[in-house]
Amino acid sequence: MTVFDLAITDRLLTTTRSVRKRLDLTRPVPPAVVRECLEIALQAPSGGNRQGWRWIVVSEPATRAALADIYRQGAGSYLDDRAREVAAGGNAQDHRVFDSARYLAERLQDVPVHVIPCVRAELPPAPTAGFAWPSLMGSIFPAVWSFQLALRARGFGSVLTTLHLRCADAAAALLGIPPGVMQVGLVPVAYTIGTDFKPAERRPLAEVVHWERW
Ligand SMILES: Cc1cc2nc3c(=O)[nH]c(=O)nc-3n(C[C@H](O)[C@H](O)[C@H](O)COP(=O)(O)O)c2cc1C
Repeated sequence: MTVFDLAITDRLLTTTRSVRKRLDLTRPVPPAVVRECLEIALQAPSGGNRQGWRWIVVSEPATRAALADIYRQGAGSYLDDRAREVAAGGNAQDHRVFDSARYLAERLQDVPVHVIPCVRAELPPAPTAGFAWPSLMGSIFPAVWSFQLALRARGFGSVLTTLHLRCADAAAALLGIPPGVMQVGLVPVAYTIGTDFKPAERRPLAEVVHWERW
């Protein structure tokens, strides 16, 4: 027994894709939609209920252009190198991902809204042993995913990106992000072109699940 329509709920959960080529670059995103989806995101869990998340919503064209430059600088030759690698030996899905990622990198400035999720962090910017690092990342990415799901439910698309983080300091200077606040990504947001997204092919569950012990 559930109060949810499982068909709809599961469709939302299984068809929220990383949207790049089907971002509609011609339609502005209403700020009210971003606000509503962020309100939903704030219901996500966070370690100790600290709610250290901070969100920067950028729609100003010059700032988007600067962020896109920083993104491309962060990407460096990575996308081209990977595209060459998958062309040589990867599967069709890998090929689509890198083709699509390059498309986005070239047009990021044209995506109407960039959302930069951040988290207040006292950690050094490198993985640390034990529970601190998972706790920190676990206190922001569930909220980011909720934001993306809420967008999808409303006809908007997004993609979690991290390539600009290699030049995170330049983005922090551009956006005035204070010390002690860590950016964890950049999420471009736009209406989607069509809404018929499908579940992706994944490794089978049997390959990745261990019952009772490894
Ligand atoms: C931690 C993380 C970082 C990612 N960084 C980027 C990125 O910098 N640029 C990009 O285009 N996609 C990025 N992606 C999207 C992945 O390529 C995408 O999730 C993956 O190919 C699976 O596709 P799907 O989300 O449509 O199922 C990232 C995803 C995750 C989870």
